This record gives sequence, C-alpha cells and structure tokens, in this order.
Amino acid sequence: MKSILLVLLSSVALNFTGNCDVIGSTQTVKVKVNDVAILPCFSTSNMTNAIVKWKQEQSNKKYVHFYRSGDDNVDDQDENFRGRTSLSRKEMSGGNVSLKLTNVTELDAGNYTCDARVETSPETVQHRKCNVTLIVEPEKDPAVDRKQVRVPGTTQKRK
Ligand SMILES: *[C@@H]1O[C@H](CO)[C@@H](O)[C@H](O)[C@H]1NC(C)=O
Ligand SMILES: *[C@@H]1O[C@H](CO)[C@@H](O)[C@H](O)[C@H]1NC(C)=O
Ligand SMILES: *[C@@H]1O[C@H](CO)[C@@H](O)[C@H](O)[C@H]1NC(C)=O
Ligand SMILES: *[C@@H]1O[C@H](CO)[C@@H](O)[C@H](O)[C@H]1NC(C)=O
Ligand SMILES: *[C@@H]1O[C@H](CO)[C@@H](O)[C@H](O)[C@H]1NC(C)=O
Repeated sequence: MKSILLVLLSSVALNFTGNCDVIGSTQTVKVKVNDVAILPCFSTSNMTNAIVKWKQEQSNKKYVHFYRSGDDNVDDQDENFRGRTSLSRKEMSGGNVSLKLTNVTELDAGNYTCDARVETSPETVQHRKCNVTLIVEPEKDPAVDRKQVRVPGTTQKRK
C-alpha cells in the first residue's frame, strides 16, 4: 500500500518540477474559541476542479469538508462542522486549498489532514497532502480571574 503510494508520488514528481509532497511537516495553527481558523494547505496547480478532502483524525468516517466537481458536498460531512467550513473558489484557482473554519470551539482542537488531487492532464494527477494541528485556547474568561474553581466540561449557571 505504502509502496504503491510512493510509486504514484514519484511518478507525479517526475511530471511536475518543484512538487510539494516531500515538504511534509505538520503545521500548527493556534486560535481562541470563537475565532476563525485558517488551516493551511497549498498546491502549485489550479485546484478549481480538484477533489479536496479535509478530515479530522478523531472523526475518521466523515469529512470536515469535502469538495468535488466544483462544489461542496455536505452529505458526508461531520455535522459538528456543518455551516462552519469553506474553501475560497478564488484562492483555489491559485492552488490555495486552505480551509476556513469559523466559530471555533475547544472540541475542534486536534489533527487535520487535507488530501487534494487534481487531474492536470489526462495522464497526470497532482496529489497534495497536508497535516495541520489546530490548537484552541480558551476564551478569556473573567471568572478565571476571580479564582473560581471550575470543573472542566461543566459550566452551570447559578440561579
Ligand atoms: C501526516 O501525518 C501522517 C501520520 O500522522 C504521516 O504518516 C504523514 O507522513 C504526514 N504527512 C505529511 C505530508 O507530513
Ligand atoms: C457563528 O457565530 C455567529 C455569532 O458570533 C453567529 O451569528 C453564527 O450563526 C454562528 N454560525 C454557526 C454556523 O454556528
Ligand atoms: C488562502 O485562502 C484563505 C481563504 O480560504 C485565505 O484566508 C488565506 O489568506 C489564503 N492564503 C494565502 C497565502 O493566500
Ligand atoms: C482555474 O480553472 C478554472 C476551471 O478550469 C478556470 O475557470 C480558471 O480560469 C482557472 N484559473 C486560473 C487562475 O488559471
Ligand atoms: C496529533 O498528532 C501528534 C503527532 O503529530 C500527536 O502527538 C498528538 O497526540 C495528536 N493529537 C491528537 C489530538 O490526536
């Protein structure tokens, strides 16, 4: 499996100078709760007609964002991300398949992968993979300054 992938990648690399899959380091993005996060991923091709799969490690079966045939496909999207993700069509034509994620919550923290492939001619597919780690910092909470002890995960309103 892995060797098939390597053969595929190297054949792609032969056709495209300056290819990018070897860059391969994980990028880290740090935002606060409710911020907008941009998860970076770039290709050198026009990605308008690409298949772009953004996934999160923790929700393996469903997509964070799935783009295909020039359109977003929400059928297989993890509902936690519904209405919060977007790819910029304008940016995609320049190879930028970074994902915009709005209304970030602490549950969004984790590792994301992007798998983007585009046919650049009938014989050649350009394939780009990106790893991004999203770190979410808590919102500034005045209660913390008042030294209240809070049990993680339970925020109860006092009557
Ligand atoms: C992404 O992470 C996976 C495993 O976590 C690793 O196998 C892969 O090589 C990484 N890819 C890149 C482009 O860094
Ligand atoms: C994101 O937050 C804004 C307010 O900050 C709200 O108007 C909007 O409906 C939220 N969107 C989603 C998808 O939750
Ligand atoms: C890539 O696209 C995103 C929008 O999806 C944009 O916010 C970001 O600035 C773009 N990055 C570059 C380097 O153009
Ligand atoms: C990218 O491809 C689309 C669809 O083929 C095309 O409409 C657009 O003009 C291209 N953009 C650039 C910058 O080449
Ligand atoms: C994300 O990946 C890193 C290694 O690249 C790993 O140390 C970390 O535990 C992962 N985080 C989650 C939430 O899976």
